[in-house]
Amino acid sequence: MGPRRPHARPATRITEAARKAANGSLSHRIRLPGRQDEFRELADSFDAMLARLEAHVAEQQRFAANASHELRTPLAITQTLLEVARGDLERDPGELVDRLHTVNTRAIDLTEALLLLSRADARAFTREPVDLSLLAEEATETLLPLAEERGLTIETTGGESPTVGSPALLLQLTTNLVHNAIVHNLPEQGSVRVTTRTEPGAVVLTVENTGENLAPDLVATLAEPFQRGTRRARAGRTGVGLGLAIVDSITRAHDGTLTLAPRRGGGLRVTVRLPAAD
Ligand SMILES: Nc1ncnc2c1ncn2[C@@H]1O[C@H](COP(=O)(O)OP(=O)(O)O)[C@@H](O)[C@H]1O
Ligand SMILES: [Mg+2]
Repeated sequence: MGPRRPHARPATRITEAARKAANGSLSHRIRLPGRQDEFRELADSFDAMLARLEAHVAEQQRFAANASHELRTPLAITQTLLEVARGDLERDPGELVDRLHTVNTRAIDLTEALLLLSRADARAFTREPVDLSLLAEEATETLLPLAEERGLTIETTGGESPTVGSPALLLQLTTNLVHNAIVHNLPEQGSVRVTTRTEPGAVVLTVENTGENLAPDLVATLAEPFQRGTRRARAGRTGVGLGLAIVDSITRAHDGTLTLAPRRGGGLRVTVRLPAAD
């Protein structure tokens, strides 16, 4: 932290804070006392910037640690499977190959999800006219067999909803939401509703599903990377916990907003609002 110098001149304190930040110390704050003059305003906004930067860096570190942990898991399982196989060369390799294949597929899915996330975050895509209602229909059609397998009904409605963006990323967003609405639903007699509509200046996609009751404070964390909801939900076959993080970053890359809300009676309602095409 360094010695406190409450009597140093404002300009000196601000310069010192800038130097500390440049050297990587993001926890220092100027906390300039006194009246609301230009120095005070500058110091306050500098402090606010440092706080945001510090939170952002902490988030990145958490993300890297979680991603490394998740990537290590399939590698560690692979190693164990191989060691066991080496100790027992008489065993039928068919089973080993099957298990290695499953673990490897999961590692590839995870890596692809991470790549997708960084691509959306970097806004590295070209923008073209997209009709959100067509994407909703396409995602629903692709996932219909999965819904039928689980005894769910899906209803997709909505008129033309033109926006501008990456058709591939927006299809991924829609697919992730419909996929979640299917797999995190009731064990039987569940339903999913997908709607698209236009509002002044915006197009809105809503994906709503029945399911278990969700506490609002849990719902608030679901879009964080690697967040996998309740323990009960995790007990079943789960994804890697990046689906909603990807939806969030694709939405932000399109200057839109994502809202998650518990449904009355259980389940979730997800709303994505994107700027309408001019
Ligand atoms: N439509 C939904 N209904 C109920 N819970 C959901 C829904 N979508 C997501 N969740 C909860 O949010 C968690 C995170 O979702 P996601 O990021 O897609 O990861 P994953 O599906 O791989 O677990 C899920 O594990 C689940 O608990
Ligand atoms: Mg998911």
